Amino acid sequence: MDLGRVEVPVSPPYPVVIGSGLNVAEVVSGELQPNLAAILTDSNVGPTHAAHLARSLESAGWHVADIVEVPAGEPSKAISTYAGVAGRLARAGMMRDATLFALGGGVVGDLGGFVAATFMRGIDLVALPTSLLAMVDSSVGGKVGVDLPEGKNLLGSFLRPRLVAADLDWLHTLPDRELSRGLAEVVKMGLLSGGGYFDDLERTEAAVERDPDALRALVLDSVRFKAQVVAEDELESGRRAILNYGHTIGHGLEAAAGYALAHGDAVAVGMVAAAHLAREKLGTDLVALHEDLLVSARLPTTAPALEPEKVLAAMGRDKKRRTADGAAGYRFVLLEDVGEPVWGVAVDEEEARWAIEVVVG
Ligand SMILES: NC(=O)c1ccc[n+]([C@@H]2O[C@H](COP(=O)([O-])OP(=O)(O)OC[C@H]3O[C@@H](n4cnc5c(N)ncnc54)[C@H](O)[C@@H]3O)[C@@H](O)[C@H]2O)c1
Ligand SMILES: [Zn+2]
Repeated sequence: MDLGRVEVPVSPPYPVVIGSGLNVAEVVSGELQPNLAAILTDSNVGPTHAAHLARSLESAGWHVADIVEVPAGEPSKAISTYAGVAGRLARAGMMRDATLFALGGGVVGDLGGFVAATFMRGIDLVALPTSLLAMVDSSVGGKVGVDLPEGKNLLGSFLRPRLVAADLDWLHTLPDRELSRGLAEVVKMGLLSGGGYFDDLERTEAAVERDPDALRALVLDSVRFKAQVVAEDELESGRRAILNYGHTIGHGLEAAAGYALAHGDAVAVGMVAAAHLAREKLGTDLVALHEDLLVSARLPTTAPALEPEKVLAAMGRDKKRRTADGAAGYRFVLLEDVGEPVWGVAVDEEEARWAIEVVVG
């Protein structure tokens, strides 16, 4: 088995291990002493993968006290689910030195991470991302949390997992549309990174066809890139903000559509809007490049008819900032070129409205 391994160089560092047909229990036992454990998963992933994981952990000397399955989907990133999961862990006798295994997509990762960060003031977390989005994005960087009725990710923390292990074979059961949504973040990071990672975006179409080498290369590229960005600025006081590329208008679109538009789809469209803004403001024309990459990932480049005012209003709740002269404005990440992001670019309301109008049909 050919393992990819990336150390996230924060303190303490943690490894991300990637492979096909990964022996998770063996990888985990190389890093942590077998002890008391619980598995958190969701109703799509659990039935196919949780029992196998529990058995292999048990045979490596772990005691799996409980397998907690939450309903699949974003609504599970909620306080009520969080309280329910924590209660299950308490009743299963989980102690301070126990380990929580979060087996699932970004929802299970964020929820499980927040439980691990707070249960008995913090227990170990092993992240086992099963969606492409979770493998390339949410499992690296330590952001964990849940949503509130008032907005997404409003309650959370930073928690470094002890280990992240991703078996690329888990992607076999991931629906095509979810694979594409993960590729939105891959395309984003390839554009931000430039270099060899950007060159590997040629393999996006093969990744959509589930070519294992293409998927492996793109997952490794993303994890390396995100690990490096996070290590430079773990708490997002500066450069980590580049990871929000495409997300300012993306979040506005998502919220204006009442979350009927998936995050990856919204980010894809948000990047196209950002490319239009960069052409106007920085004189860099990467619009066609963006559209080609997103089409090859089977992602949208325009959004369904949404009121630009609604999108602006939703962005206002999210990211609106007063500029130095007191005018209403936004701060964008734009690309001066492939691999040359700039952040904190002031965009006024009129420019933002124009960019939204370009991408909403
Ligand atoms: N913490 C971070 O830094 C960070 C970064 C990006 C996104 N996020 C969060 O991640 C979440 C989105 O992640 P996501 O797209 O993975 O969502 P998700 O966890 O809802 O997974 C998407 C869907 O795929 C299913 N699924 C996952 N793996 C599967 C598999 N192997 N086989 C079959 N089905 C599978 C899930 O059950 C779900 O229906 C959002 O809540 C977002 O806020 C967090
Ligand atoms: Zn995102």
